[in-house]
Amino acid sequence: MKKNKTPYIKLSLETIKENLDFFTKTLGFKNQEIYYPVKVNSDENILNLLKKEEVNFETGAISEIENLLKLGILPENILYGNPVKSDENILKAYSLGINIFGLDSLVELEKIAKLAPNSKVYFRLNISNQGAEWDLTKKFGCSKTDLFELFRKSKTLGLNPCGISFHVGWNNDNIENWNNVFEYINELKNDLINQNFSFEFINIGSGFPAHKNDGKENLKEIAKIILPYLNKWRKENIKLIAEPGSFLVAYAGILHTKIIEIIEKKGKKWVFVDTGIFQGFYWILSGLNYNIRAEKPESNFETEEFVVCGPSCDTHDVFSYKVKLPKSIKKGDILCVEPAGAYIFSAKEYNGFSYPIQIVE
Ligand SMILES: Cc1ncc(COP(=O)(O)O)c(C=O)c1O
Repeated sequence: MKKNKTPYIKLSLETIKENLDFFTKTLGFKNQEIYYPVKVNSDENILNLLKKEEVNFETGAISEIENLLKLGILPENILYGNPVKSDENILKAYSLGINIFGLDSLVELEKIAKLAPNSKVYFRLNISNQGAEWDLTKKFGCSKTDLFELFRKSKTLGLNPCGISFHVGWNNDNIENWNNVFEYINELKNDLINQNFSFEFINIGSGFPAHKNDGKENLKEIAKIILPYLNKWRKENIKLIAEPGSFLVAYAGILHTKIIEIIEKKGKKWVFVDTGIFQGFYWILSGLNYNIRAEKPESNFETEEFVVCGPSCDTHDVFSYKVKLPKSIKKGDILCVEPAGAYIFSAKEYNGFSYPIQIVE
């Protein structure tokens, strides 16, 4: 077998397909009701696979939209979900045929009405993210009062309010929170209906755990809580959509990185590898951990604690200060880091936004 040059992420499309099937089956979704958030991993192979499976897409930037259109994905299968968009990007998206915009403020609503008249709009709600590894409530999401105001104002601005969305927070395995959120959304949905606000869909977002492990057991537990709500809403003819990202792709990717040197310093063994946290793993700076193991450990190996760090001259470039690895690891061996399928490959142009160019004066 041909040896790949390190570093590389080995990505399994088969695993993604399996995860998609597991997700849709467990929660009773059709593939067409899944909107894959492109920022999680924008690899064209994944986008093509999901297109073939008739999955739809959620985006945050024009470049993500343009990439999808280039692959033959139709504008009506794309949500432009970023709650705050520049005027130029709204105009561009509208000219490209995008007509569903997510938002959470009156300012954005008025902008959409002016720049993308008659479009559909859906509103991102602020809900409890308790138990999430990353709380997503600070930057986005409107209150219930604001939501009603957005519904009211949309009509007067000639827009079509078509749904509500929320996100329980990244990697949330707190069952009680899932329960509280779905009960809250159920009450809110009743209030909207009682006040004669009609809408097509509830977008349940994501937050399905898939970082400490592949999340399948978590999903089964979460399903016990949320399926009764989903089934009830389906019976009421409310379309349900979901935006699973990590669950589909996180455990489909494994980073392979080569040991370039092992240096002993102050009683610790520092393993230097040929890629680091600035190559997509900067989430580690905010406290995330990844599993690190030897690719080909000998049988019955003894372990020892190592520091595993990247090759750059930056002091933060450390995967972990405490990794148990086989005692026998040596320069030239390969280490595997996982999960590496979510938010790593796409980190270099995250959510479709590229680094600034440099203008030399
Ligand atoms: C709007 C939206 N949808 C979907 C996702 C994907 O979430 P996850 O990685 O939990 O699957 C995110 C992630 O932050 C998001 O902001």
